[in-house]
Amino acid sequence: MPRILVIGASGQLGSELTQELKNIIGEDNVVASDRNISATSSRQGLFETLDVLDGDLLYKIVNKHKITQIYHLAAILSAVGEQHPKQAWTLNIDGLINVLDVAKEKKLDKIFWPSSIAVFGPNTPVNHTPQNTIMDPLTVYGISKLAGERWCEYYFHNYGVDTRSLRYPGLIGYKSPAGGGTTDYAVDIYHKAINKKPFECFLKEDTALPMMYMPDAIRSTIELMKADKVKIKVRSSYNINAMSFTPKEVANSIKMHIPDFKISYQPDFRQDIADSWPRLIDDSCARKDWGWNPEFDLNKMTKDILENLKNLKSTAILNTD
Ligand code: SER
Repeated sequence: MPRILVIGASGQLGSELTQELKNIIGEDNVVASDRNISATSSRQGLFETLDVLDGDLLYKIVNKHKITQIYHLAAILSAVGEQHPKQAWTLNIDGLINVLDVAKEKKLDKIFWPSSIAVFGPNTPVNHTPQNTIMDPLTVYGISKLAGERWCEYYFHNYGVDTRSLRYPGLIGYKSPAGGGTTDYAVDIYHKAINKKPFECFLKEDTALPMMYMPDAIRSTIELMKADKVKIKVRSSYNINAMSFTPKEVANSIKMHIPDFKISYQPDFRQDIADSWPRLIDDSCARKDWGWNPEFDLNKMTKDILENLKNLKSTAILNTD
């Protein structure tokens, strides 16, 4: 049985991925870790307080729990990164290098690290963005993800570390709050809608971005990590896709269930970030190499999120707007 350490286990992706890994390999084989000790779900079971910038502590935790795989998810995302560029660079890059170093020293079986559509920039083709293309990111988050991809490939080629990575689109989940990304309007909008409040969007109504519902994101990650090593032909990071929509389209999809839902548009600095990213990316390498196939489109996701939020609200677990 693998022994997995999840770093950033209290985050939007981390909390759901940790739970799914526990479901698959058993609670005792998954160690959740985060800087944030107030997190809820990920603190059930094995938990270590860890700032990934503390390489010595990371090493000790890997030894203590006989870890064989790491999912390193801790990062500062695009919008918050623009407010704290140096902090974002340090966490996103030095944290990754600590993880790669421990993987190399301890000869871990494999490492998962997420990249992002933020690696692309204004000169990248915006539609069906190819796996290999111009990459000129404008945000420090995108710059750090692009550099991180190069480091992953470097450790694979030079030290044999089995690094695996996905360029996630905007990830949409309803179970935990999103963490400072440009695509996160598409998380908040559902909470406003279910609480019968109007939503003010920080992007223009026609800004199309690649997006993915959390169950697809979790499944893609686990399928990539389960795939036979010889099938993984891309050691920087795979393009991965599920859907593409604009704020107006997601609002219309919500209106099919909540007809009086209201949205207004007040673009801010995040509009420039969104304008530098692709609309839809080509994930044919992921489909060909390890069989990726998304399940959720916009309307299927909207129906699922609204039903789940309604249930949570009626059982009074959810108290958020
Ligand atoms: N969701 C991320 C962000 O908006 C992109 O990967 O920062």
